[in-house]
Amino acid sequence: MKRIGVLTSGGDAPGMNAAVRAVVRKGIYHGLEVWGIRRGYAGLIDGEIYRLGLRSVADVIQRGGTFLRTARSQEFMTEEGRKKAVEVLNRFGIDGLITIGGDGTFRGAMELNRLGVKVIGVPGTIDNDLAGTDYTIGFDSAVDTVVDAINKIRDTAASHERVFIIEVMGRYSGEIALTAGLAGGAESILIPEIPYDPQEVCDRLKESYEKGKKHSIIIVAEGVASAQRVADDIRSLSGFDTRITVLGHLQRGGTPSSFDRNLASRLSAAAVEALLAGKSNYMTGIQGSEIKLVPFEEAINKKKKINTELLELAQILAR
Ligand code: F6P
Repeated sequence: MKRIGVLTSGGDAPGMNAAVRAVVRKGIYHGLEVWGIRRGYAGLIDGEIYRLGLRSVADVIQRGGTFLRTARSQEFMTEEGRKKAVEVLNRFGIDGLITIGGDGTFRGAMELNRLGVKVIGVPGTIDNDLAGTDYTIGFDSAVDTVVDAINKIRDTAASHERVFIIEVMGRYSGEIALTAGLAGGAESILIPEIPYDPQEVCDRLKESYEKGKKHSIIIVAEGVASAQRVADDIRSLSGFDTRITVLGHLQRGGTPSSFDRNLASRLSAAAVEALLAGKSNYMTGIQGSEIKLVPFEEAINKKKKINTELLELAQILAR
């Protein structure tokens, strides 16, 4: 293997730049040429490919977003588009590809593997919803952002004795809601993995107010319901004075935490090693403190189990 390509695809995540940096520098260390592909699979099809050197990734480790930029490509969803992508890789003489992203990115990578491309994935998504890795790059930073927001909202919630509902990302996964909710001391955490019961939320609220609470924070993952709907439910069932905050894409930006930078560095270096060892169709993942290779199939299709004990713990601690 002489020349490898690297791209970021799907939703961006803090730490993606640190991941690209690690691919470039680890690749060059092993005598490889590393080429950057702009705008994910869309840029691959369009041939937006340029050589990266050691200095191309200077001053990026601390930056959020992805300097390679990212996209969700409709054309790549078609077999014709994917064949074009393979042609472009061949034209540029790229013998191996590292794709940084989430499940959609890896679905695409599996298709490329099927067409004969050697490809290794690095998990980069704030959602932390991939099986076979305890953490994905960007999750820790996103959780820090949410906890920072909870802290600020708690100030005003306490002053006005209000119930605040904070909506966080996670269409299918409650990882952000649960981890940030526990860290932020949220009184209720609503996640897609558990059916939403407005009456139960109100009962818990009432019980805590009877015990002397004067304000409350409820975290809701976007996949459960909108913050507005939860607020309306609570107001109509119990009459509490509610306010909402939707954190949205704020959660995807900002400087990556040291945890995410280290994770990105390790997972990406391992991806280069995997390509050098002739492997393909795997994602690098962290399990405990060890870096492992996880088949794409497993990372995407196996359901990552959420730790519901944390939910119980959060409820006990927020009483
Ligand atoms: O990055 C994952 C994610 O943030 C989801 O939690 C969210 O629903 C989605 O991406 C939104 O992405 P976009 O607005 O880029 O389509």
